[in-house]
Amino acid sequence: MPNDIGTFVNMTSCVDAKLPKDATIENLLKVLLDAERCAVRVYNEILDYIWGNGYRTSNLALAILHEETEHEAWFEELLTDKPSGHFRRRIPGENPFSKFLKT
Ligand SMILES: [Fe+2]
Repeated sequence: MPNDIGTFVNMTSCVDAKLPKDATIENLLKVLLDAERCAVRVYNEILDYIWGNGYRTSNLALAILHEETEHEAWFEELLTDKPSGHFRRRIPGENPFSKFLKT
């Protein structure tokens, strides 16, 4: 595990989220969606690595994975104007994992 965050970030193979040359709302949302998808992938990989080797650390990584998955759903819904299929919400803005994270 590297000592500095820059090296750690480079290990993720996620590209930096930069303003696209053709900075339309749609293109910006695509950049952000790609960033969230990469975060979801990275936290899945972290969980694969640490699962069973520390409950608190695993729970923290799992909580972050839930958050990143929700972010991915936001951008997908904004891009497609349809529910992402990640969650079944009762009300707009409801996060089904919020209850889980607060207990
Ligand atoms: Fe995120």
